[in-house]
Amino acid sequence: MAGNSFGQIFKVTTFGESHGAALGCIIDGCPAGLRLSVDDLRRDLARRRPGGGGVSTSRKEDDEPEILSGVFEGRALGTPLTIVIHNTAQRSQDYDKLKNVYRPGHADMVWDIKYGFRDYRGGGRSSARETAARVAAGAVARKFLAENEVSIRAWSQSIAGITAPSPNDDEFSLDEAEANEFRIPGRSAAGKIASKIEEIRSAGDSAGGVVECHVNGLPAGLGEPVFDKLDALLSHAVMSIGAVKAIEFGAGFSVSGMRGSECNDRALPLAGSRKTKYLSNNSGGILGGISNGDSLVFRAAFKPVPSIARKQITIDNTGKEIEIEITGRHDVCVCPRAVPVVEAMTALVLADLMLRARADRNVTF
Ligand SMILES: Cc1cc2nc3c(=O)[nH]c(=O)nc-3n(C[C@H](O)[C@H](O)[C@H](O)COP(=O)(O)O)c2cc1C
Repeated sequence: MAGNSFGQIFKVTTFGESHGAALGCIIDGCPAGLRLSVDDLRRDLARRRPGGGGVSTSRKEDDEPEILSGVFEGRALGTPLTIVIHNTAQRSQDYDKLKNVYRPGHADMVWDIKYGFRDYRGGGRSSARETAARVAAGAVARKFLAENEVSIRAWSQSIAGITAPSPNDDEFSLDEAEANEFRIPGRSAAGKIASKIEEIRSAGDSAGGVVECHVNGLPAGLGEPVFDKLDALLSHAVMSIGAVKAIEFGAGFSVSGMRGSECNDRALPLAGSRKTKYLSNNSGGILGGISNGDSLVFRAAFKPVPSIARKQITIDNTGKEIEIEITGRHDVCVCPRAVPVVEAMTALVLADLMLRARADRNVTF
């Protein structure tokens, strides 16, 4: 099976299945000397864990990371860095009756067609449990970026059709987003979502939503201008997260209805600062595939969780139509738990491009 690695210099390989012994990652290319401990990994892993309440799965994993290699006396050695997270709360019997059945909206059938054999317990490697390994790797990338004054923040921008306040609204608060179970940055939107999610959950159904991500402090000049454009790599990274069906940068799809005069972001006179500022950010901070020094802004749309409690009609592996009822533990909407995953994938792209940028110009050592 190909495609388990991501990145060129800061290169991450993830491993593990939902109901196997463990998941984890190996990072090749982490710069030597970076200060790192398991505490740096715990915060984001805790944010990815189900937060309780009605929106998340009731599967409770400790997600305690263990660093097996690549760190000595609290600093990265520059050697392969291995992180392992043991699975402790598998309940594989929940999946026995799904062994020969294809869950609608899930990867079961296409995995069987492609490989002829699959780990049906919890979706195996197609399960979002794999994202724990991405979040661990992303936390290392984030540490490197923080030392370069780059910060990444994402939040739920909408859930079940209820939209959060925008960053310019008074009610917008990232502290509030971290305090409520939906990661929505406004109290009244969180209240409306709570009753909507309860209604959807009681009906045995699920909901979709949008995660918005902003990166601040990003220097101009990141991104390789042909195939490895910054927006192309971010799209690859974010679209590789399960349930993501679309991504848009800056003004996104709405640019198609704008005039050039509205869409072009005007650069302001430098006025002593070395950092370019702009009057608007319709480009999402990217021009020609290269960061332009403004905030990087994008949104990713997540489909409703495919595993729903209500009865569904599907087929089994003999092609016979059958009715199924999915009894495993599932999220009602993935957005709150996807927020740290989106941040992690963004961090992986940016750390890699920052290291690649060091090779872009002739510099003397
Ligand atoms: C953080 C996160 C949590 C998820 N939780 C669930 C879940 O509890 N149940 C489920 O069926 N799908 C869940 N998904 C979605 C599936 O992983 C995804 O829909 C499935 O692998 C099929 O892939 P596709 O939707 O990208 O085509 C989750 C996804 C993410 C990112």
